[in-house]
Amino acid sequence: MHSLSSGKSENCANIFFLCVYLAPVAAGQLRDGGGREPTSMLPLDPVNAASFGKLIRSVFMGLRTRRLGTRGNSKYHYYGIRVKPDSPLNRLQEDTQYMAMRQQPVQQKQRFKPLQKVDSMSDSLCGSSQHCNSTPEQSVAAQSQHHQQYIDMAHSLPTFPSPDLGSQPLPERINMSDIKKLQTLYRDHCEATLDVVMNLQFHFIEKLWQTFWCSTAPSSDGDTTIPKGLIPAEKLVSLCKYEPLRLWIRSCDHILYQALVEILIPDVLRPVPSTLTQAIRNFAKSLEGWLTNAMTNFPQEIVQSKVAVVSAFAQTLRRYTSLNHLAQAARAVLQNTSQINQMLSDLNRVDFANVQEQASWVCQCDESVVQRLEQDFKVTLQQQSSLDQWATWLDNVVTQVLKPHQGSPSFPKAARQFLLKWSFYSSMVIRDLTLRSAASFGSFHLIRLLYDEYMFYLVEHRVAQATGETPIAVMGEFSDLGSMMPSFMEKGKKL
Ligand SMILES: *[C@@H]1O[C@H](CO)[C@@H](O)[C@H](O)[C@H]1NC(C)=O
Ligand SMILES: *[C@@H]1O[C@H](CO)[C@@H](O)[C@H](O)[C@H]1NC(C)=O
Repeated sequence: MHSLSSGKSENCANIFFLCVYLAPVAAGQLRDGGGREPTSMLPLDPVNAASFGKLIRSVFMGLRTRRLGTRGNSKYHYYGIRVKPDSPLNRLQEDTQYMAMRQQPVQQKQRFKPLQKVDSMSDSLCGSSQHCNSTPEQSVAAQSQHHQQYIDMAHSLPTFPSPDLGSQPLPERINMSDIKKLQTLYRDHCEATLDVVMNLQFHFIEKLWQTFWCSTAPSSDGDTTIPKGLIPAEKLVSLCKYEPLRLWIRSCDHILYQALVEILIPDVLRPVPSTLTQAIRNFAKSLEGWLTNAMTNFPQEIVQSKVAVVSAFAQTLRRYTSLNHLAQAARAVLQNTSQINQMLSDLNRVDFANVQEQASWVCQCDESVVQRLEQDFKVTLQQQSSLDQWATWLDNVVTQVLKPHQGSPSFPKAARQFLLKWSFYSSMVIRDLTLRSAASFGSFHLIRLLYDEYMFYLVEHRVAQATGETPIAVMGEFSDLGSMMPSFMEKGKKL
């Protein structure tokens, strides 16, 4: 290790290196790292860690750090910068990721399989470098980097609330310092989860959860000691049995998973490579199993409560990825003049009076509102609106329809009712088109699926806004109800 003492010119070379090869994640957030091209690869001697820290802070002022891993067993890393996409350092990083991946057990490697299918949208991967001829592991690592441009890397975890302990005395086995410790450790754990997801290293989540909940079998050398700084398993169980803390963990989970959704799918309508969609869907599929495995030794109540939130998260990921997929397909239709014209002529033949007659008994909708929506829809179609214009139109529809319920406790119910009615009306229109064997049936079917799904998305967000909760909490409400009232659910199934 060479220190800085060997001369000022070396220091300058190091700064140059930082400027050229590293860039702030969000432009404007930090001082610009410079955009110059390297004139040559300078032979550099590495400085020691302390000097490197000083250097990097002198270039990226205000740079923050984050801890990865649990206390006492952690690594610090810089937060808010990354290697420039076009930097030759990427090759270096791929090599180390490749080495890391080779050290993982076989079944973890196989989870990456679906990612290996490079589709047309990821073609840019093969543009400039040797990715195309690389090993599967290398292409996965490269793909992961390529995918990171589609996710929100600048997102951070909002602060957690404090547990609401009420005025009852604490249960015997726990005291305030235990609770404080849990608060700190749980926050660290959630931040680590967020970091792993942000790096798209989904397969690490399983291990991370197992480590936190300490339920992994003792290692073969009989070492069962608890890593420094962790809560002993028995104590953790006691803490989880205490209801105020269980509710607190649930509210933290709502915040965490909402952040993860916003990181992974920052814009539901924006095109993303299907390989990324597939990776997110596989992740969603694995979550519940990973959690229940990690928590096998914990009381039912905490497991059920956590699983309910994770299921809501998985369901949200599935819905948003479908929505995204439908949006890509619909874009092609909405941009095609001949298809739009066919849709218009078919729609003009639909007997809307008949649709209204049949739907009115079920929906009890104001006839004038229905007529206005029908006219508006036709005009918007005629204007060959883009998907984004349609999204604005749907948003306005939700606003108008729910306006009378704003601020009322009946808002969530009215919102759900609206979704049902919207879906009922659109199915009546599709029915009419089907009976007429309309040529544009396929286009309408696709548009209908997309608009239903997007309405669901909009309404869920409006309800969350109205109740001051996260959309994940809104969606988790029902599955929570189900898990707490098994007898009710049993009865429901028999009906
Ligand atoms: C809380 O309990 C732990 C043992 O479980 C003990 O070591 C600690 O001193 C206690 N703290 C307080 C503030 O009573
Ligand atoms: C528009 O749709 C028609 C009918 O489906 C199809 O034949 C045509 O190729 C499409 N045009 C474009 C530009 O995609």
